[in-house]
Amino acid sequence: MILAERIRNLPPYLFASLEAKASELRAKGVDLIDLGIADPDLPPVSTVKNSLIHHLDDPDAHQYPTSQGDPEVRRQIAAWLRGRFGIEINPVNEICVTMGSKEGLANLARAFAEPGSFIAATDPGYPVYANAGAILNGADFHALPLLPENGFLPDLNQASGARILYLNYPNNPTGAIAPESFYREVAVWADDNPDTLVVMDAAYCELSFQSPKPPSTLQFSKNVIEFHSLSKMMNVTGYRIGFAVGKADVIAALTKVKTQLDSGAPVFIQRAMADALATYDGQNPPPEAQRSHDEYAARKNLIEDGLKHIPGVLQVYPSPATFFAWFRVSDDLAFVEHAMEKGVILTPGRGFGKAGEGFVRAAVTTSRDRIQLAIERLKS
Ligand SMILES: Cc1ncc(COP(=O)(O)O)c(C=O)c1O
Repeated sequence: MILAERIRNLPPYLFASLEAKASELRAKGVDLIDLGIADPDLPPVSTVKNSLIHHLDDPDAHQYPTSQGDPEVRRQIAAWLRGRFGIEINPVNEICVTMGSKEGLANLARAFAEPGSFIAATDPGYPVYANAGAILNGADFHALPLLPENGFLPDLNQASGARILYLNYPNNPTGAIAPESFYREVAVWADDNPDTLVVMDAAYCELSFQSPKPPSTLQFSKNVIEFHSLSKMMNVTGYRIGFAVGKADVIAALTKVKTQLDSGAPVFIQRAMADALATYDGQNPPPEAQRSHDEYAARKNLIEDGLKHIPGVLQVYPSPATFFAWFRVSDDLAFVEHAMEKGVILTPGRGFGKAGEGFVRAAVTTSRDRIQLAIERLKS
């Protein structure tokens, strides 16, 4: 057997050795507090779960869905976009339902990236942009460094000539929120660079703890595509549901790829998403989702304060969004290894790209008591 070059080119899984060490410690009975994994521990918002169960009885629930998504679900997504962002989107050709945003972000690249072209994305960043976006399509990758002195915002001019520019705010892993002026700058850049497809990954858009919540890039330009996801918004990462919204020709290209690769998200999950979006009151999520967002905010404050007193932590970068705390140390890998010996799992920043070296990410997807215990362990 000969593996394809694009698979051989995928980088080795950096965390494999850390995971092996964690398993070894767990086997010895060591209690590890996991601040590494970005997977909500809080239960699904009940509307989504109840609605999913309800729609399992729909007469067509067992049948193939369509790759672009159920037309009525798309209409309800358009209604949510109107209430949340005040934008008018045509549900017929400007929305595509995806199986989580990861699938859409990756499949979109198949339609635009190819050998000889390059993809630009923020670094540190969600690894899908470089791996599924560039490497799996034989394209090159240009990293746009996110530096603390620039508020973790990229210099867009460094993306000139890219086929795709992936942006992600609120940001994983830095937690940074972009000011409205940045969304406007992105819009102008997208209008001035029509050969580059500008993608805003808005997976954490609703996990923002300040008012007003982040805008949509589509408020400022029609020449962008944006990805939204129910995963973090409603604690349903396992349900795999989200959507892409933007230019009709881009939605058509994404749908064309999806018709060859998948048959769309199960229709009962799509309808559960639509029902959940309908529980928004304008910009405000339903109270149950709000309570879980408040809990993440409280946990984030707790860890961001606690980290300031931990030996070896040089700087903490607090932010009012996402469930990530981002902080500077002298050597991220050594810090993370040392933390694991004390029973705390963290993620070294270099796992998100070269500009992540020297930083560490802590995800607050465990209870406040456990986070407090993790702080005590790291202080000792
Ligand atoms: C920045 C970012 N984008 C997209 C995703 C994918 O989320 P999902 O596929 O669950 O919508 C994640 C998941 O962690 C993420 O961190």
